[in-house]
Amino acid sequence: MNLQNLSKQTKAYLFIVFAMGIAAIGFCAYAYPLTPLNWYVVLPGLLVSAGAAMISVPIVAHRSGNKHLENTSMSLGMIPTFLLLIAFGPLAGVLSGAVSALVSTMYPNRSYPVQILFSTAAVVLAVLAASPVLMMVGLAQPGQPFPSPITLSGSAQIEQSLATLAAGAVYFLVNTLLVTLVISLVGAGGKRVAAYETWRDNYLWTFPVYIASAAAAALLYVFLPYVYRYWQSSIAMLALAVPVPVLIYYVAQYHRQSNLHYRNYIAELEHGREELQRLYMATVESFVLAIDAKDRYTQEHIRRVKDYSMELATEMRLSDTERKSVEYGALLHDIGKIAIPESILSKPGKLTPGEFETMKTHTIIGANILEPVRFPFPVQGVVRSHHERWDGNGYPDKLQGEQIPIGARILAVTDVFDALTTDRSYRRAWSRADTMMYLQKNMGSHFDPHVVSAFLRILRREEERAAAMVDGRPAPQKASEPFAV
Ligand SMILES: [Fe+2]
Repeated sequence: MNLQNLSKQTKAYLFIVFAMGIAAIGFCAYAYPLTPLNWYVVLPGLLVSAGAAMISVPIVAHRSGNKHLENTSMSLGMIPTFLLLIAFGPLAGVLSGAVSALVSTMYPNRSYPVQILFSTAAVVLAVLAASPVLMMVGLAQPGQPFPSPITLSGSAQIEQSLATLAAGAVYFLVNTLLVTLVISLVGAGGKRVAAYETWRDNYLWTFPVYIASAAAAALLYVFLPYVYRYWQSSIAMLALAVPVPVLIYYVAQYHRQSNLHYRNYIAELEHGREELQRLYMATVESFVLAIDAKDRYTQEHIRRVKDYSMELATEMRLSDTERKSVEYGALLHDIGKIAIPESILSKPGKLTPGEFETMKTHTIIGANILEPVRFPFPVQGVVRSHHERWDGNGYPDKLQGEQIPIGARILAVTDVFDALTTDRSYRRAWSRADTMMYLQKNMGSHFDPHVVSAFLRILRREEERAAAMVDGRPAPQKASEPFAV
């Protein structure tokens, strides 16, 4: 979420939420101030919030939109925030919420500053919104050092427990709705997304985690007063607070280590993937050798066609998947010739109509041979369609225009170019200039005009480079040019 790319409306919304967050902290400081004794607990409590925000617990959730289970994680920051809110009132709660939101948006991966500020403000507002629910049942009272609910009557305890869960629900609603609104305003790929679907798919399923966090905070609130009463002196509080940074350090180290393990794991996977790619390529090369055993000319031809096709793929800025299908398609396009009788393949003269019909089947046979190989990119279509023509007069399916896969349209050009510029048993090689002219003449009929234009650009650049070289060295500078000293 980069600030420059946002609409005015979104910016205004972000600003309003941020300003309300600041105002909320100011309001809490004014209306619910803490006593000095409170601060002795709240300050170490904020450190605990920071530490808890660094700990992510894995949760498996069912996203209602996607109808599948997904692994994700949530930080533990809400527990100390709710505990401080219940025990010391809104100021302690909003400060803890702010600290935990700041930490979890910056660690382990730092978000954009605008996201950090917005998320923090949203949490602050959610904590403030949850406060009245707790205050109604005598919790979240500022200025009181840990009133223990154990001493209250049974019905008051039930009231307080229910209020804690309700406060958790209010916190959940305010926080997720504020964030959902910004997601729907920013939209996906320039389009606005429906707010309700966004909320349902991304947040609704996290509701139990919020409720569980609020409940955990309430349980801690019941037990911690005993600890607090026992260690009332400030020195004792300090003693309790000292281990916190140590704990945070260990948590941070743990995360760093697990990140390291994760990175090593990814590197290993990547290595495995490259090995697999090499294996794929080696298998394909064996296929190519198999064609070569039948037709001497083919192997060299295939390599040149592959090189030209890859240059074309770069020139035409094809995607990685398209590039892969061009590369493998170029290597395998004539694999079907394995099934064509040698008498036809290496016949010196022109083929009879019957022989030509047999020859044409190499496209379908090639595609059939590759069918059981599940390439992770489309190769079969490229092989099947490499003799289709732009105007629909090709074979085997008489596809036309963009119905023909881009890899096949590229191969149609490079295959013909290489065939014409090479000596064959029945004719001499054409000159490059003649072949270029031929391609140009057949743009829009045999060949895709875009592919031909791109290919001609490549060939002209090659020629210019060749002209600039004399005997393999750069050409001497012209006399008129200033002499470089
Ligand atoms: Fe072919």
